[in-house]
Amino acid sequence: MAIDGKVAFVTGAAQGIGQAIAKRLAHDGADVALLDLREDSLHETKELVEAAGRRAITIGGDVSDKSSLEAAVNRAADELGGFDIMINNAGIAGPITPVRGITEQDFDRVFSINVKGVLFGIQVAAAKLEELGHGGKIIAATSIAAHESFPMLGLYSSSKFAVRALVQAAAQELATLGITVNGYSPGIVGTGMWEEIDRGFAELTGAEIGATYKKYVEGITLGRASTPEDVARFVSYLAGPDSDYMTGQTPLIDGGMVYR
Ligand SMILES: NC(=O)c1ccc[n+]([C@@H]2O[C@H](COP(=O)([O-])OP(=O)(O)OC[C@H]3O[C@@H](n4cnc5c(N)ncnc54)[C@H](O)[C@@H]3O)[C@@H](O)[C@H]2O)c1
Repeated sequence: MAIDGKVAFVTGAAQGIGQAIAKRLAHDGADVALLDLREDSLHETKELVEAAGRRAITIGGDVSDKSSLEAAVNRAADELGGFDIMINNAGIAGPITPVRGITEQDFDRVFSINVKGVLFGIQVAAAKLEELGHGGKIIAATSIAAHESFPMLGLYSSSKFAVRALVQAAAQELATLGITVNGYSPGIVGTGMWEEIDRGFAELTGAEIGATYKKYVEGITLGRASTPEDVARFVSYLAGPDSDYMTGQTPLIDGGMVYR
């Protein structure tokens, strides 16, 4: 299997895309450390990893707290016997609001999790890989919204643009350590996050629940919303040896929505 015996660390692993990534990496042969805000919400993902015949540990933690993330990566390396792949997946949509309505508090919250969380993930993973004396893969969630912004999603979008910048700079800085840094840019994935976005649009515009999601899905060339597994398959490629000659990129995996 592509990443047999490697150790992966997935943030935001309790549901949605993070859960699908953890499951897929386990099927590819990795043991997986699972981090989420609430540790008790990670049991289902742990069972999925174990059902694939791999080991999993669950860790409650907040990606916007650097020392907690550092402790979590150290614990994963100790308990799983190594550390090779960091998936900075945790992120939030934040409020659905026009640019003029973004408050300082909203800005700080979204950037704290989406940008600082990824920055800390890159820093902590790079330090651990250097200490272990081998290279590895650092991967981050971005979005179609990291390539093109959309009305009412300017705050989320600007946070994901920032993640692309971090990926590009870190890739160039960490190459000599044998570390590649890439991102994945999903489109419309049917997860808890989109339920929240849809609800946010309904509150703001009076649209019916489900109508905004439907409208966005209708714009997808391949004619359907993404599943978390569609994204996990691409992350599996980024985590494995087939992507060794790729760094600093954040490709779109969106069924055909945004063309770059
Ligand atoms: N769903 C989509 O359509 C979509 C599209 C593009 C990009 N993305 C990105 O993919 C990633 C995963 O999205 P999803 O749809 O699975 O979201 P989701 O809301 O379904 O799951 C996110 C998980 O992250 C956890 N989390 C949130 N804040 C955290 C924090 N501070 N520390 C640790 N864990 C935290 C949540 O508890 C949750 O389990 C996000 O970065 C998101 O921005 C999602």
